[in-house]
Amino acid sequence: TNKLSAQDFRPKFHFSPKAHWMNDPNGMIYHNGIYHLFYQYYPNDTKWGPMHWGHATSKDLFNWKEKPIALYPDSLGMIFSGSAVVDENNTAGFGKNAMVAIFTHHNAEIEKAKTGFYEYQSIAYSTDNGDTWTKYKGNPVLPNPGITDFRDPKVMWFEKDKKWIMTLATKDRVTFYSSTNLKEWKKESEFGNNIGAHGGVWECPDLFPLEVNGETKWVLLVSINPGGPNGGSATQYFTGSFNGETFIPDSDRQKWVDYGTDNYAGITWSNTGKRKIFIGWMNNWQYADLVPTKEWRGATTLPRELGLTKVKDEFYLTSTPVKEMLALIKPVGKTKILSTEKNLNLSETVKSLKGCFKLSLTFDASESFSINLSNNKGEKLIVGYDKLGNYFIDRTKAGISNFEKGFARKHIAPRISKSKVGKITIVLDAASLELFADEGLTSMTDTFFPKSPLSKLEIIKGGKKPITEIAISSISVRK
Ligand code: FRU
Repeated sequence: TNKLSAQDFRPKFHFSPKAHWMNDPNGMIYHNGIYHLFYQYYPNDTKWGPMHWGHATSKDLFNWKEKPIALYPDSLGMIFSGSAVVDENNTAGFGKNAMVAIFTHHNAEIEKAKTGFYEYQSIAYSTDNGDTWTKYKGNPVLPNPGITDFRDPKVMWFEKDKKWIMTLATKDRVTFYSSTNLKEWKKESEFGNNIGAHGGVWECPDLFPLEVNGETKWVLLVSINPGGPNGGSATQYFTGSFNGETFIPDSDRQKWVDYGTDNYAGITWSNTGKRKIFIGWMNNWQYADLVPTKEWRGATTLPRELGLTKVKDEFYLTSTPVKEMLALIKPVGKTKILSTEKNLNLSETVKSLKGCFKLSLTFDASESFSINLSNNKGEKLIVGYDKLGNYFIDRTKAGISNFEKGFARKHIAPRISKSKVGKITIVLDAASLELFADEGLTSMTDTFFPKSPLSKLEIIKGGKKPITEIAISSISVRK
């Protein structure tokens, strides 16, 4: 039949819990050949509620196995966002190579008493590869110093000084703390109260080094809600230097990890060496608990490999789907098409793919084009490039949107690359589209809710120059 069930919006190759609510990805860590993903989870409803850490594991970042809940709320509060590390040198005394989670306790009782200072940091450890977790009896390890929003610790090992660094979101800035044992924390410095975007509260920061041409640069990600470039929640970043005490940005102006409206609270995996793998929550607080899914609510973005590229003397973050995705994709139709016609209809090629596929185009950046994705209900999602220098996703007519007044919109992202040849890849998974342009220099993630799969595809050129390459691949989906 043609009737769509709520499960049809559920991504086929992105992680989402089978049932109930999820928001931020938490505590991602690679350990003994397994990728762990924890996440903000409420196991009793499809709306946000007292937070737990859900848990899933994978060997390839795509096939996820849901595990028992890792952390439950307790007398100190709900379990808010945070990170995890492998304690190789047993600095905390929980055992060599113990996994240690560092998270925020959010105490609703104190919140009700309106003291304002109801968030503090705690730790828990696992010595059985993440199967069971024990909360440290000395919690909290970082009490609240009198700051309303004091959360989302991301911890990394700073080898040069043999100490842990915690990057914490503290209202309108981040604060860096250090520790030699994960239990006692010392404040090092603050960053950002008069730098970057400030349309909302700062949340879920991440600090990590990336190497580019033999040079080490530091990247600081900071989610902000609201205040994103296309409304609501989004993640800004800064490049700069970090010496174990302070972060010095290259510029006072923020850049954006993703210009779509559905990539929030993303951070990177711990313990992956020089490789930095990012995943975000594919949603936006502006409508997160209103989106028309049933049984489950919330998913992650594709896992993305982060890199840095210099454009006109400035460093930019690049994000592209991790190489593990190659194992899932298979070219369909003609492997490569050259399009000289004005309109190219590729519906035959994609019609059996149920709105789950990957499309790559190489084009001349002096001409506009659009990619029209549609279905038999007349719903239409338009993705494209405007030669004035923007990419866009227009979900105005892409399906159900009456749940929130700001949802049906066109979103715009600047093209950052200066190259004359443009390249984009879009990845569609039922109810989401991710766009990666110019080797990942511009990215956009949008969700949409079509009443039947988008299985019609047309490419409309804005000028006479050919699109030099079009390639479509199917993506193998979860059974
Ligand atoms: C970000 C966030 C975090 C917080 C968590 C609560 O989406 O607000 O700051 O820890 O969600 O679920």
